Amino acid sequence: MKPPTIGVLSFLAGVRREGFLAFIGSVWREHGDVFQVRIGRKTMLFAMHPDAVAHVSVDNRDNYAKLETYDAVRDYLIGEGLVASNGELWRRQRKLMAPFFTPKSITTYAAVMIRDAETLGERWEGLATEGGEVEIAEEMTLVTASIILQAMFSTQTVEAVRQMKEAVETMVAYANRRMVGFVPPLWVPTPFNQRYKRVRKLVYDTISGLIAERRATPEADWPDDLLSRLMNARDEETGEPMTELLLRDESITIFFAGHETTARTLTFTWYALAANPLVADRLHEELDRVLGGRTPTLDDLHHLPYTLQVVKEVLRMYPAAPFYVRDAIGPDRLGEFEVPAGTAVMLSPFYTHRHPDFWEDPERFDPDRWTPEAEKARHRHAYHPFAAGQRICIGNNFSLLESHIVLAVLAQRFAPRLRDGYVARLENEGVLALKDGLPMVIERRRAEPQAKTA
Ligand code: HEM
Repeated sequence: MKPPTIGVLSFLAGVRREGFLAFIGSVWREHGDVFQVRIGRKTMLFAMHPDAVAHVSVDNRDNYAKLETYDAVRDYLIGEGLVASNGELWRRQRKLMAPFFTPKSITTYAAVMIRDAETLGERWEGLATEGGEVEIAEEMTLVTASIILQAMFSTQTVEAVRQMKEAVETMVAYANRRMVGFVPPLWVPTPFNQRYKRVRKLVYDTISGLIAERRATPEADWPDDLLSRLMNARDEETGEPMTELLLRDESITIFFAGHETTARTLTFTWYALAANPLVADRLHEELDRVLGGRTPTLDDLHHLPYTLQVVKEVLRMYPAAPFYVRDAIGPDRLGEFEVPAGTAVMLSPFYTHRHPDFWEDPERFDPDRWTPEAEKARHRHAYHPFAAGQRICIGNNFSLLESHIVLAVLAQRFAPRLRDGYVARLENEGVLALKDGLPMVIERRRAEPQAKTA
């Protein structure tokens, strides 16, 4: 049977009326867990049920790959980096890189995360005194960009962070526009094309320069960062290192994939805390009891479970990647519905995480959903902010550790406040976004900042 189908005109009218994210929610409520949108020859099939996540990502995963839907990501962002590659190349690269992202391996970066969060805390002391509004998304992007640059390349001058962050924003916007709309070929000198080319050159030159600099340094002096680890990685069977091109693509991939998503998660955390004062009180109680004003250490994190539960609940209600796609290689079925070859199957953390059959009162922000017992009792694929199966986000542990630390450092000292009358309007911009940004006033929790000891 064919799934309920939305024609292109209804789709465009709906998106114009409600925005993409809200419109997809309306169609879901009207038509159920599987429906499709036809745009020209392309079919996008939305599948919201956790069983569909299991089917596409695990049970029948060999029938799904990142094909033409990922062309823009490959061609305009990250080449053959891990997010976009397929088949043998993907398998080899994932195997080479996985050891650098295990829970144990990433603890090496905790010190950088703590230090950068503290640096932001110092900046927020100044902002709290001035009392003006800041754009929280901007603040969070600066801290996560700085952390990933340091973890990846052991570099993070303020200038480099700003430049790379802005470059990434331009390139992601460009690739998105290419995916959904008409953009003249790259050789046509439109201002948008020219800007993209300029920025891409900056990113490529910066990263190639960092790699060349590392090669010119005696190996004994290499810092223990991700770049050194990637350069030293050897294929188990052939003993070969990564090619120069793959090294560049993977470095760019980690930089791109590794900061914007975490920045969004932290941004929504500040929103959720300001909008749910009882949750904020419990978080503050835990931080005060365990840390008493001191900078957290890695060990302290084990004693801050509620802080992590807050992050997990943010990733449920506000998953940074509200949708991700898998292209069907051959024909398939999802329950009673046909999935022809070539269909782009859209899986949606945003809507699966609000599925009323799996989440009680799904619109309520409730970190108590994340006690170990509650987690165990749930459908395994009802929660997939990092995707699922073998192509699950390689940086999931890194990101959780980073969010845990940044929140612990900043929330014990500050309670950013929403502007009166602020209403959060969510939209999908490839990553989950707030239409009007998130202007907040930084306020100290205590009149006197407490003494800090390491
Ligand atoms: C809250 C933060 C994050 C979220 C919500 C997130 C989400 C995701 C999702 C949904 C995917 C699947 C994408 C797709 O199939 O198209 C993915 C893949 C990936 N992510 Fe993340 N991510 C986060 C943080 C990170 C970090 C910190 C890194 C690196 C340090 C990272 C690196 C990657 C890579 C390399 C892949 C591709 C994995 C593969 O296909 O083998 N991500 N992520």
